[in-house]
Amino acid sequence: MKLQGKRIVITGATGQVGLPVAKALAQTNEVWAAARFSNAAARNELEAAGVKCAVIDLATGDLAAIPDDVDACIHLAVSRSGDFDVDLTDNAEATGLLMQRCQNAGAFLYCSSTAVYEPKDHDAINERDPLGDNHRVMFPTYSIVKIATEAVARTCARLYNLPTVITRLNVPYGDNGGWPYFHVLMMQGGMDIPVHTNGPSVYNPIHEQDIIGAIPSLLGAASVPATIVNLAGDEEVSIEDWCAYLGDLTGLQPKIAPTDNTLESVATDNTKLRELGWKQTVTWRDGLRRMVESKFPDLLQG
Ligand SMILES: NC(=O)c1ccc[n+]([C@@H]2O[C@H](COP(=O)([O-])OP(=O)(O)OC[C@H]3O[C@@H](n4cnc5c(N)ncnc54)[C@H](OP(=O)(O)O)[C@@H]3O)[C@@H](O)[C@H]2O)c1
Repeated sequence: MKLQGKRIVITGATGQVGLPVAKALAQTNEVWAAARFSNAAARNELEAAGVKCAVIDLATGDLAAIPDDVDACIHLAVSRSGDFDVDLTDNAEATGLLMQRCQNAGAFLYCSSTAVYEPKDHDAINERDPLGDNHRVMFPTYSIVKIATEAVARTCARLYNLPTVITRLNVPYGDNGGWPYFHVLMMQGGMDIPVHTNGPSVYNPIHEQDIIGAIPSLLGAASVPATIVNLAGDEEVSIEDWCAYLGDLTGLQPKIAPTDNTLESVATDNTKLRELGWKQTVTWRDGLRRMVESKFPDLLQG
């Protein structure tokens, strides 16, 4: 879908992934950020970038502030309370209500996660691989609620004849943060960084710039029934390697601590994403350097 002059609603636009996406799309589109705006600074940053702000609450289902006639809805909001009842309401039920509200849109994107997959050792996981309770050890509700929300999105795509794409996002990171950002904070605090004993702990991190670059193709791929696409970078990188590199960049020492009590590897097969014409533009080392420059400029070693 060509994203120029479109009216686009983005939920979760105050969050890690949503903020840079909303700001980038607002350069050529009418973008509506839909959130509670619990973070006033994020609202200011969005408004300064020309984004319109609609106060909604997915928990209560108060979505009236979302405009009636939108071309696309990009649903990035997530609730991670750890309480199953709350998280099913705020994610699964809320996605149904949001799709009802945006049923006349040309495309709907629901951002899911590769946390929905059963671990597959170090093999690359594709969209037809088995699902499982991948993240239970760290985030008890997350995987099951993401799977439940995908099912709601699939149902509503058919119910409303609303072209839908479900993206399974791997490890998003960039100038606005992400998992490697938390690893730097852990290194600063002298904390252990857990990795799985079945090492190395491998993922396919994707820079925020490459998420933004994928959105037109992903919206263009939206269909009825819904289509599912892994959203991840081309390079397989382990936590061990990216923390070592963050150590080189910052002079901090990562304390890598192998344990069974953490997430296993989630490497992804990105054939479907590449078939949509997406190409990675930011290598992981370049992306991490940029993240340190943005978030920890005082730490960056010459
Ligand atoms: N970050 C990752 O490592 C990662 C990995 C894989 C997949 N994902 C997926 O990517 C998407 C974006 O994640 P993120 O990490 O950017 O999220 P995040 O930083 O935790 O932000 C969550 C967003 O959800 C909004 N939100 C939460 N409860 C809400 C409610 N009741 N009503 C309206 N909005 C609400 C928040 O806005 P307000 O507080 O202002 O309302 C905020 O904008 C999610 O679907 C997530 O599951 C993330």
